Amino acid sequence: MQSYGALPPHTASGHDHSDLHEWKQPFRMVSGGSGETCVTDLRKRRDQSHDPRGTGAARARLRLDSMTELVTDTPEGEAVGKPTSVSRITLSHIMTAGDTNLLGTVHGGVIMKLVDDAAGAVAGRHSGGPAVTASMDEMAFLEPVRIGDLVHVRAQVNWTGRSSMEVGVRVLAERWNESSPAQQVGSAYLVFAAVDEQGKPRRVPPVLPETERDKRRYQEAQIRRTHRLARRRAIMELRERRAAEGLDDA
Ligand SMILES: CC(C)(COP(=O)(O)OP(=O)(O)OC[C@H]1O[C@@H](n2cnc3c(N)ncnc32)[C@H](O)[C@@H]1OP(=O)(O)O)[C@@H](O)C(=O)NCCC(=O)NCCS
Repeated sequence: MQSYGALPPHTASGHDHSDLHEWKQPFRMVSGGSGETCVTDLRKRRDQSHDPRGTGAARARLRLDSMTELVTDTPEGEAVGKPTSVSRITLSHIMTAGDTNLLGTVHGGVIMKLVDDAAGAVAGRHSGGPAVTASMDEMAFLEPVRIGDLVHVRAQVNWTGRSSMEVGVRVLAERWNESSPAQQVGSAYLVFAAVDEQGKPRRVPPVLPETERDKRRYQEAQIRRTHRLARRRAIMELRERRAAEGLDDA
């Protein structure tokens, strides 16, 4: 497995700052020279304090507008990011009679399983180890899929945080009885968290969007991330307010 010892700071990937919390040992929140909050390995920082080029975190700092550089190595040869194309995959599967619902078309859950499988493979490849599904949202079924159709599930990392990755998935179907091009039949966005042997979140290398489409997807994923966090915060605040008012709905 590849080592990602010198990851760029969490904030440098354009991540929303609002949910920053103390990271697992040995990483801690520190304030960078520019005043922005960043994550770095304090031990590494101490060890590199003689380095005239600054801290590992500072050297590795990446910004979205410079991601075309596809930086994958620090001067020390440590990986700091992975281009989108490195982990992108397509999973193909022919639908059979066992995949149908009562209407005789393919069951949505079968498609969702393929989506989760493909996204999980991408998350594992990008993060270089195990990753678990944290959430799946905006799953859209655009057209029915039928027995015999060849389904292609295309997945790529859209965005990365500290330990989480948003994986975007497109589902296409080639009709078994038509020679027309594959038709998009669904899409979804999943968040995966990379985990260690104990199931605890671990850091992931930042994704480096390559094309304008990748960059747009990165920016859109960031919007979704902001909304997910805001929604979760708003719901927690509502529950706390209700609890404080003694409104018990258990
Ligand atoms: C996902 C899981 C590892 C998160 O653990 P946790 O202790 O809550 O850790 P954190 O709060 O630090 O979250 C880790 C990351 O996941 C993100 N995350 C956690 N829950 C999330 C959710 N519901 N939606 C979106 N992102 C989520 C966090 O924002 C964080 O991202 P970041 O590190 O990039 O900032 C944990 O909840 C878990 O193991 N869930 C079960 C997973 C599972 O069994 N999936 C199905 C089978 S694969």
